[in-house]
Amino acid sequence: MALIWLELVLHFLQKKTNLKIAFIGDIVGRPGRKLISHYLKKIKEEYNIDCVIANGENASHGFGLTVKNANELFKYGIDIITGGNHTWDKKQDILALLEDNRILRPANYPNGVAGKGVGIYDINGTKLAVINLMGLFTMPQCDNPFILAKSLVENLQSQGIKHIFCDFHAESTAEKRIMFMIIKDYISAMCGTHTHVGTDDMQIVNNALYLTDIGLTGCFDNIIGMDSAVPIKKALTGLGGHFKIPTNCNSILQILIIDIDNDGNAIDAIKIKQYSDGQKFVTNSYKYKN
Ligand SMILES: [Fe+2]
Repeated sequence: MALIWLELVLHFLQKKTNLKIAFIGDIVGRPGRKLISHYLKKIKEEYNIDCVIANGENASHGFGLTVKNANELFKYGIDIITGGNHTWDKKQDILALLEDNRILRPANYPNGVAGKGVGIYDINGTKLAVINLMGLFTMPQCDNPFILAKSLVENLQSQGIKHIFCDFHAESTAEKRIMFMIIKDYISAMCGTHTHVGTDDMQIVNNALYLTDIGLTGCFDNIIGMDSAVPIKKALTGLGGHFKIPTNCNSILQILIIDIDNDGNAIDAIKIKQYSDGQKFVTNSYKYKN
């Protein structure tokens, strides 16, 4: 009898210390912010989410992030904001934003650049490290993210931090896979961003969650969240123009929810695709050992 009680207590303690984190990819402009304002609080409650991380580098008019929009996203329930190659686009606001502990930019910008790429947060008594890195292919010239990632995760491990999430902002799918293979034994989860197109390869390998790209949160019926007119003109004539966010569009909120145990192991994950017309699709993750 005593043994059963002990097992129940242990089970309860284990459940209580589990961490459920959510990740939203590139939020593109007002349509993306609007969906988050409509759905995020509801999803947080329904799935008992402890912490929401989101990539906000396209949240303001598709390019960069303003102080006003960052505060809006925090108000809607986002806890930590990561960045990428567009982090610097709202020049008047970015330096102030990067002083906020909740806002990260890729860690592989060279020494001396403002801001930081790794944050350690206390989430209900558990330490969660969030790493933001950027790829090399078609990206600004920065330090090698693979060498840096390895040293970052080793350093976090030496500090006893087991719950580690990485947003790898990269164009190339192969780069994302390479990054995962380098850091998978140290982290709880890695999810890619930047392409704005979600991939269908969500998996938990041993104890780590992997998804090549979560896809955008914003308009899905134009061209990667931007109005089609300028990109089409550019493709047909070679002449450029200013990219705009569509004023009227069909939009999608894409959110990854990861259940992490006491030891920082990803034990379960789902991805929700919530469309603006109310349709909702939930995908479970494939799990395997190797
Ligand atoms: Fe990007």
